[in-house]
Amino acid sequence: METLQNKTAIITGASSGIGKTIAHHLAREGTNVVLAARRSEKLKQLSQEVKDEHNVKTKVVETDVTKKEDLENLVKETKDAFGSVDIFVNNAGVMLLSFLKNDHVDEWEQMVDVNIKGVLFGIHATLPTMIEQESGHVINISSVAGHEVFPSSAVYSATKYAVRALSMGMEKELSRTGVRVTNISPGAVDTELTEHITDGDVLDMFQGRSTETLNAEDIAKAVTYAVTQPSHVNVNEVMVRPMQK
Ligand SMILES: NC(=O)c1ccc[n+]([C@@H]2O[C@H](COP(=O)([O-])OP(=O)(O)OC[C@H]3O[C@@H](n4cnc5c(N)ncnc54)[C@H](OP(=O)(O)O)[C@@H]3O)[C@@H](O)[C@H]2O)c1
Repeated sequence: METLQNKTAIITGASSGIGKTIAHHLAREGTNVVLAARRSEKLKQLSQEVKDEHNVKTKVVETDVTKKEDLENLVKETKDAFGSVDIFVNNAGVMLLSFLKNDHVDEWEQMVDVNIKGVLFGIHATLPTMIEQESGHVINISSVAGHEVFPSSAVYSATKYAVRALSMGMEKELSRTGVRVTNISPGAVDTELTEHITDGDVLDMFQGRSTETLNAEDIAKAVTYAVTQPSHVNVNEVMVRPMQK
């Protein structure tokens, strides 16, 4: 197992859910964590929790992943503070499920901006540094919806298929650079993600439906597994689903 002691991880979407829990898990392994999202108050609170519980260094960088310059600044501030970027978790995402017939075009655009362009800007900002270091690990959070399409998930799925395609391309192009990539595809996880859905037909569809969900910890453990493998091991794809569908 590779030690994460004194390494540096950037986590986007660290203000809640899966990203927040990944920050705790990596910090528990001794990694200094850089917390990025728009809600800086939540990040500051998490930063204090992580420092108190895991005795590592932290940094908060308010970041909107739809803005290329925010990602560039995020990586610059990380290097200024810690000297390297060892792990970059492209986790920020939105899941504004809607039926195509209901034409939620602004939400389609938001999903493309956050889930695809946000990941691309993350890759743009961090890859040159990792290639120069001849080491680094990019974790892209896709979804089971990046492998299958469900009614109301067409656009969300399109964005998560795109994330998976990017991961596959990175894996092939970077295999001789020392930079590893892992695509993680969670099934349903109990987080804030569904709270932003506005399509009444989707909300009606989910009404009274009970499905088993994973905890954010279940996904954070998959991330920890991937980043603690020896340097010759490239864990390219992990899918984690609840037992009951
Ligand atoms: N929960 C699930 O069932 C599930 C399943 C499969 C995949 N996923 C994926 O897992 C990832 C994390 O989601 P989650 O379940 O943890 O949901 P969540 O609790 O809603 O977290 C989403 C995170 O993304 C951040 N975010 C959204 N827009 C952003 C922007 N423009 N700039 C920067 N950060 C932004 C949010 O932070 P701010 O609002 O503070 O910016 C928040 O920290 C997403 O990519 C999601 O698609 C989730």
